[in-house]
Amino acid sequence: MTMPTPALSGADPHSLAIVGAQVVVLDELRQLDIGIADGVVQELAPTLQQTYARTLNARGLVALPGLVDTQVHLREPGLEHKEDLATGTNAAAAGGVTTVFEMPNTRPPTTDQAAWQDKVQRALGRARVDFAFYAGATADNADELRGLEGRTGYAGTKIFMGSSTGTLLVPDDAGVRAHLRSGRMRVAVHAEDEQRLRQLQRTVPATRPHDHPDRRDTLAATTAVRRLLDLCIETMRPVHVLHVTSADECELLRQHPGRRLATGEVTPQHLLLSAPECYDRLGNLAVMNPPIRSEDHRLALWAALRDGTLTLIGTDHAPHTMAEKARPYPDCPSGMPGLQTLLPLLLDQAARGNCSLAEIARWTAQRPAQAFQIQGKGGLVPGLDADVVLCDLGAEAALTPERVQSRCGWSPFLGQRLRGWPVYTLLRGQIVFAEGQLVGAPLGRPVKLGKPLPIMPGR
Ligand code: DOR
Repeated sequence: MTMPTPALSGADPHSLAIVGAQVVVLDELRQLDIGIADGVVQELAPTLQQTYARTLNARGLVALPGLVDTQVHLREPGLEHKEDLATGTNAAAAGGVTTVFEMPNTRPPTTDQAAWQDKVQRALGRARVDFAFYAGATADNADELRGLEGRTGYAGTKIFMGSSTGTLLVPDDAGVRAHLRSGRMRVAVHAEDEQRLRQLQRTVPATRPHDHPDRRDTLAATTAVRRLLDLCIETMRPVHVLHVTSADECELLRQHPGRRLATGEVTPQHLLLSAPECYDRLGNLAVMNPPIRSEDHRLALWAALRDGTLTLIGTDHAPHTMAEKARPYPDCPSGMPGLQTLLPLLLDQAARGNCSLAEIARWTAQRPAQAFQIQGKGGLVPGLDADVVLCDLGAEAALTPERVQSRCGWSPFLGQRLRGWPVYTLLRGQIVFAEGQLVGAPLGRPVKLGKPLPIMPGR
């Protein structure tokens, strides 16, 4: 009897077999080879059925789905002295992040179709990972932004309910309502109440970074989240609460009748840093909006992430130069970089027993892809894009300044020893980062967000 010869997978000269990796399947690690052709996972099996043009030996490494970061600031156009689309997506690739959603508070801000189109054009040929751009809400651009819905490379509307970096602001319910009524895609929201922030800025002294959590307190956050969740039910529009920082906001989300309607995000820095220690040690480098708060809040964020109240992790990668951060508080800008450290920090948490690899995949790939209906993304599954990050869980090293890809050149986690590092990052089957080096030409493409699922109130 003659056995049929296995077909070479398609006609793709770049087809690739990743062999010997441990793959996270549900809550277990299994040794499975990954067959990739035409940028897509073809098969995952102990022994591949098809043959592939090239082989990558991944023995000893763990394969996770490439990470999706739904909150990053890449500063182009206008603020390229801090970061640009090339340097920011280099940081992403070096950190195993293969899709980024970029924020609109650039100069000029991304508030119309032409500014959004300009960003997509700038990213083509320069972005090392896949991307989509948000557009920023203003008092009168809801109709303009509705015209972007469904366009490839459009991440949706971003609303600043409270002032932060830049000029974007929609402080009132009428303005937020107008945006929620106009369109169907999930709307990302910086939920701090502007009236409360102004009151605090008039009354609370600002002498040192330790004052930051009092000048943007939990009441500012909960007032805005409460207003937003009411408007979300009124309009039945999916919303995404960015950078949740407090136990109180978690409770509001936990009690909300429509969990799939209102998703919540937490940053690694809010999960791993707490006041006052972070301000003692890092000074202005720890200042961001909304602030890093006390240990009680930090622990409540972990609990809410573990029980599903918080949907996913996003970094709020917000680079500023060291010179800008050196200005005395409160004149220093708010924000810190995070793209390159997201995965190493989480792998280190897994090594310490604080989370599992399956949870990392859920919080950083599967849930972002589900919440925003990102086509082709979200898991190591046949038929989806072959975005893969191969990690050495035993590697222990400190992040050193030479390894930092972001133009800002620093990280709040510099010098910290972490156990577990990405070794290879693959974007749609192409190696974009290998053993400490960026590889090849930037291949990032705009991603398409599908129509949101019909929304059902309830969990
Ligand atoms: O700390 C922050 N920095 N929070 C924001 O909302 C914006 C960001 C930035 O763009 O610098």
